[in-house]
Amino acid sequence: MLIIKDLNKTYPNGTQALNTVNLTLENGMFGLLGPNGAGKSTLMRTIASLQLADSGSIEFDGINVFKQPEELRKILGYLPQDFGVYPKVSAEMMLNHIAKVKGIHNAAERKGYVADLLNKVNLYKVRNRNLGDYSGGMRQRFGIAQALIGNPKLIIVDEPTAGLDPLERNRFHNLLSELGENAVVILSTHIVDDVTNLCQNMAVFNEGKILVQGHPQELSDRLNGTIYRKHIQKSELAQYEKDYTVLTNYLRGGKLNINIHSTSNPGEGFELMTNNLEDFYFYSIGQKQNQEA
Ligand SMILES: Nc1ncnc2c1ncn2[C@@H]1O[C@H](COP(=O)(O)OP(=O)(O)OP(=O)(O)O)[C@@H](O)[C@H]1O
Ligand SMILES: [Mg+2]
Repeated sequence: MLIIKDLNKTYPNGTQALNTVNLTLENGMFGLLGPNGAGKSTLMRTIASLQLADSGSIEFDGINVFKQPEELRKILGYLPQDFGVYPKVSAEMMLNHIAKVKGIHNAAERKGYVADLLNKVNLYKVRNRNLGDYSGGMRQRFGIAQALIGNPKLIIVDEPTAGLDPLERNRFHNLLSELGENAVVILSTHIVDDVTNLCQNMAVFNEGKILVQGHPQELSDRLNGTIYRKHIQKSELAQYEKDYTVLTNYLRGGKLNINIHSTSNPGEGFELMTNNLEDFYFYSIGQKQNQEA
């Protein structure tokens, strides 16, 4: 179990990236959903023992992350948002090396283990190609593979699906949910679909704060009966944004769809929608902004 208590972090330039973060996570997939600059990567690096907080504590299965970072790293799998690779080394050689460092000493066993891993992320065919010659998506999948070495009990993946094509994204989702059966998996993303189907537990995170936490379905149910949709002209958007709480707008066949939040029927050609997590996400973030205004 991961227990985060009252975590605060302000960078030297004055940015408060973590603001009294409290979180308790059991095994399973947890989605950290938030916009750019919310503080997701800061939180993940802090949990991964790669940077310290100003105050607060993190404990994982009895390990004090700040006091026992070496202990944590033994059971940690971490995929950073940005990472470099050794360009002149093949994926197979690199994974083999990491597996050795992580304690898989028997060479034959290690070879089988690495082959299995390469298959899981669909890189077996290109295992001998140098990492520097990988495409962006292949490099990302290599990053995923290295994070899984050594059967980690805590898996932290920071925007893991960025750059993956739909097939690989799907493959990765399946892999993660399998891993979530025996580990705490934390996934950060700004893509609502990544958490909708995958996570049993999620939080909307913005400006260093957890705004709301719960099961994705339970959260989007909170807006039942309050989401209305209408097709409008693009030129009308500004006026609608003035008159209504517009949560999302997107083009469909050249026409603009808007989803608004309203506790009573707005009439005017609006149609009641079954809500979805995306609306809830924007509602949560927007509500926060309104409160501050
Ligand atoms: N090393 C640093 N020094 C100063 N400010 C930083 C540093 N790292 C992050 N920040 C600031 O802290 C805030 C949170 O950044 P962070 O990278 O944690 O956000 P994020 O949610 O991961 O964003 P993204 O979705 O863009 O990856 C931002 O305002 C960012 O500019
Ligand atoms: Mg980030």
